[in-house]
Amino acid sequence: MDKNKIKKKYNEKIQNLVKLNKHYYDLSKPLVNDHEYDQIKEEILSLEKKYIFLESENSPSKIVGFKPSRTFKKISHRVPMLSLSNAFSEEDLINFEKKINNFLGQKSSNQLEYSAEPKIDGISASLIFKKGKFIMGLSRGDGKEGEDITNNLMTIDDIPKNISAENFPDEIDIRGEVFIQNNDFENLKDKFANARNAASGSLRQKNPQDTKKIPLKFIAYTFGYVNKMEIKNQSNYLQQLSKWGFKTNPFNKTISGIKNLMKNYQELEKKRNEIDFDIDGIVYKINSFDLQKRLGNVANSPRWAIAHKFSANKGISEILNIDIQVGRTGALTPVAKIKPINIGGVVVSNATLHNEDEIIRKDIRIGDIVVVERAGDVIPHIIEVDLKKRKKNLKKYIFPIKCPSCGAKTIKEYNSITKKNDAVRRCSSEGYECDKMTIEKIKHFVSKEAFNIDGFGKKIVENFWKLKMIRLPQDIFVLNYEEIKTMDGWGQQSVANLKYSIEEKKNISFEKFIYALGIRHIGFENARLIAKTLKTPENFINLSKENKIDDLLNIDGIGETQITSLKKFFLNRTNLKVLQDLQKILKIQKTSQNKKDGVLSDKIFMFTGKLTGMSRAEAKSLIEKNSGTIISNVSKKLDYLIIGEKPTKRKVEAAKELKIKIIDQSELYKLLNKSS
Ligand code: IVH
Repeated sequence: MDKNKIKKKYNEKIQNLVKLNKHYYDLSKPLVNDHEYDQIKEEILSLEKKYIFLESENSPSKIVGFKPSRTFKKISHRVPMLSLSNAFSEEDLINFEKKINNFLGQKSSNQLEYSAEPKIDGISASLIFKKGKFIMGLSRGDGKEGEDITNNLMTIDDIPKNISAENFPDEIDIRGEVFIQNNDFENLKDKFANARNAASGSLRQKNPQDTKKIPLKFIAYTFGYVNKMEIKNQSNYLQQLSKWGFKTNPFNKTISGIKNLMKNYQELEKKRNEIDFDIDGIVYKINSFDLQKRLGNVANSPRWAIAHKFSANKGISEILNIDIQVGRTGALTPVAKIKPINIGGVVVSNATLHNEDEIIRKDIRIGDIVVVERAGDVIPHIIEVDLKKRKKNLKKYIFPIKCPSCGAKTIKEYNSITKKNDAVRRCSSEGYECDKMTIEKIKHFVSKEAFNIDGFGKKIVENFWKLKMIRLPQDIFVLNYEEIKTMDGWGQQSVANLKYSIEEKKNISFEKFIYALGIRHIGFENARLIAKTLKTPENFINLSKENKIDDLLNIDGIGETQITSLKKFFLNRTNLKVLQDLQKILKIQKTSQNKKDGVLSDKIFMFTGKLTGMSRAEAKSLIEKNSGTIISNVSKKLDYLIIGEKPTKRKVEAAKELKIKIIDQSELYKLLNKSS
């Protein structure tokens, strides 16, 4: 048979499978029984084995073995499920400890005690227990809202369903990792790309009987909500977990000092291949719960924990080409297309080159033989060029001076703080005038932390863009669903699902709305600060009309960079049109006034000078936890100026002039009803 005929036959089989999947998962009306379905899948897999040129993203060999259901009920986590920031080196760990000590107002050389827990590469789950009974289990979801996968979790033997221990809290969310052991994965290898995907796919089956077919394991390591628990630190909590009947990681340790963390890391990395489950690093948690509480969180991750990733796997390959990708903010990112190589079980064919300066520094040329590194879920990158292997005629790579998408001039900005030119070259057009930038902006708009529209992923943005169905973010809300129904890969049910997800997200919080706009330098944390200060979307939209952008400088955390960026944003007419149109379509909630009930409610504070026994950041979060607000300039609005050691004279004078109360740290504690 010739190649085309084989391809045709293969594609027909794939089309058939797509149809069967749709009937099974989306319409709940299976067309064939399980046995027939497996046979069809088998045929596709054996064709792929025989003819390596066959490939389809709908193939059962790609990523998900079973297509996960999208029909789980969404439920809010009582306490958000956070993620962790990463460390890759001893230096990263030193900085991590230093930051903690700074926050706590301690000497930076102070050694801290950690719970060191191997990081299992699985799927996290939150198990809600009431009066000792396992009543509900949620997936992580976006961290705030998870999916109700109770029935599937019920099938896991490692999860105790009833706990009668006397000291087991009345209500507690036990959190941990669902995973598959390597020896069990051996039998599933044909169906899934890796053990993690197998665990994820199987946890999200519509029918718990399908979940049960796969031997899932559960290891517990933390908790979310809890009412009354006497335990003082993480190590004791882990011990309690196993007394209560949960499995915990046998390699958990309690360790003080970075040197000892490194020793444990090296030992475990050596043992890594002997352990029967995949670990991709070690999680370090400050052991004391009191300290954890003082440290709190930044955006989506705790200040008191970090994931120390295992060193990357490396491989050698050749650079076939260099592509330039245009990002949401115009940054041009060079990406090396390399000869595909298998690094640690994953086929790598792209590697980021970061930016123009990186290419110059490493003198990377098309045709070079290079060392490629892949660390965990981070994008692979190029470590070095093997100059000995460089062919004679290779030319230096010249970075494009015009944007490959819109043809506008590319520029390197001058950074007035570092007094250097930026390492990144950017497209100079103003956002929506450049197609690639617009596509990326729309991807950002629908992404998890922004509008989080279910089923509206990057692929769909690209597809709808190609078909000219979307040009600006607001177009998402006026899609022609009748037309979509007629398109390849779509059907009655999937369009109904899409419509539902989009309608649902018309109701959006003010902070997510600001973040979704993708204004440069306004990340989630800044968006939150702005939303908290401005309270209503009208105030945001009128910012520039009323000449009030500069007022935002008062917000602790917003600086000149953000102000300049906001001004630029409001000067652009397309941005204004996007804002106006969205405001008409959406229901943007005002910033909620919860937490207004703290003891410092309505009170505005400012600091000058160094505090004792506590850092500025900790004091700030303490005030905010008690509903107070911090600003960074003396003004009439200010209620209290808090002075520490060596206060700035000018600020104290200005406060005196405006008759603002000047207090010291102990008076702040009094306001908080707290003794120092
Ligand atoms: S603690 C509050 N402990 O790592 C910090 N997470 O990037 C987050 N993980 O989603 C949870 N082993 O899936 C914690 N011993 C461990 C862990 C662990 C693996 C995973 C978990 C989480 C991710 C954070």
